[in-house]
Amino acid sequence: MPTLTAPLSPAAGTDRATVAEAGLHLEISGLTKRFGQFTALREIDLAIREGEFVCFLGPSGCGKTTLLRAIAGLAPQSAGRIIQRGRDISRLPPQARDFGIVFQSYALFPNLTVFDNVAYGLRNRRDDRAWIRARVAELLALVDLAGSEAKYPAALSGGQQQRVALARALATEPGLLLLDEPLSALDARVRVHLRGQIKALQARLGVTTIMVTHDQEEALAMADRIVVMNHGTIEQVGTPAEIYRRPASAFVAEFIGSMNFLEVRPDGAHALRLGRRRLDCPAHDCAGDSRARLAIRPEAVKLCAANEGLSARVEHVEFLGAFLRVGLTLTETGQALVADIAVRDAEALGLAPGASLGVLLPSEALRLYPGREARA
Ligand SMILES: Nc1ncnc2c1ncn2[C@@H]1O[C@H](COP(=O)(O)OP(=O)(O)O)[C@@H](O)[C@H]1O
Ligand SMILES: [Mg+2]
Repeated sequence: MPTLTAPLSPAAGTDRATVAEAGLHLEISGLTKRFGQFTALREIDLAIREGEFVCFLGPSGCGKTTLLRAIAGLAPQSAGRIIQRGRDISRLPPQARDFGIVFQSYALFPNLTVFDNVAYGLRNRRDDRAWIRARVAELLALVDLAGSEAKYPAALSGGQQQRVALARALATEPGLLLLDEPLSALDARVRVHLRGQIKALQARLGVTTIMVTHDQEEALAMADRIVVMNHGTIEQVGTPAEIYRRPASAFVAEFIGSMNFLEVRPDGAHALRLGRRRLDCPAHDCAGDSRARLAIRPEAVKLCAANEGLSARVEHVEFLGAFLRVGLTLTETGQALVADIAVRDAEALGLAPGASLGVLLPSEALRLYPGREARA
């Protein structure tokens, strides 16, 4: 029988230290999932480190849940392998795999008390009754619901129900925690609060965690690494900062954060032409293309006096509290551009609709992606 305190004090566990040295928790290779003629996942390769918090992020229908369900064995893959801590689990049924799972909609048993819900997996394993009682109390304390044992799910708020679901998923000390949009049914304030709670709990337990979300802000705030998915493939894997600063594709650039796109012509491997202007930019792969899409974040666009930079006209100015969002038109090309400007800087520029000013596009903030024609 496991001891009561060891499972919840990760740093002390020698097993964990050993596994951490080994590095990888999950290795997915060549994973494909078909539903009839439709390919929902195509040749997915992904490695997840021990103790990592990974988010699967992407638009609805891109295959996030399908990938999570394949990892759990709930919807086995059509091809490919899944290795967990060195063990090939590709063909194991869910009950033989090592994970706990939380779904979007509260999947608690409505006719069971909170205690019975959390104790479910422990009873299935035929753990000692006194131990189960102590373990449930410990888990409920962990999710800030101490003393709620006798309540029924219907008596709890949505956020509380998800915390019970989390306690239930963690009860048997799984090596892997799978969360499928656990926050998306909650209202905004509860969602942000629970986001912090889940993140803190995960850090404390050190349990390797995969969370599915379509909410980029949630992924940026919570993940150690984000896996950006689109149409059943992985577009990019990276830390939130990497994904935000160096999106690997136009899709990622557009999906995460706000982004301006301008049609330009590549000019060598380190420059581009925007109208008649030649601008330096970081190395890109579009040198052979006749067109490309230039991406720059609104906060990277600099505004200056009308006699400097690219000439532009102010179309509208939106006050957003911490900054101003300025809608501009580039005079020469007629292209629209958005700039986010600190309130203090705006005063010096005298921003008002109709005003003429200059726009600077700092080289290091530019990214070039193949144009639409080049892709076809
Ligand atoms: N059981 C199924 N049968 C047929 N198609 C499915 C099934 N499950 C999912 N799909 C399809 O696979 C694609 C990916 O679905 P899913 O993984 O649920 O997307 P996400 O979780 O990213 O929103 C969607 O086009 C969906 O319609
Ligand atoms: Mg889904």
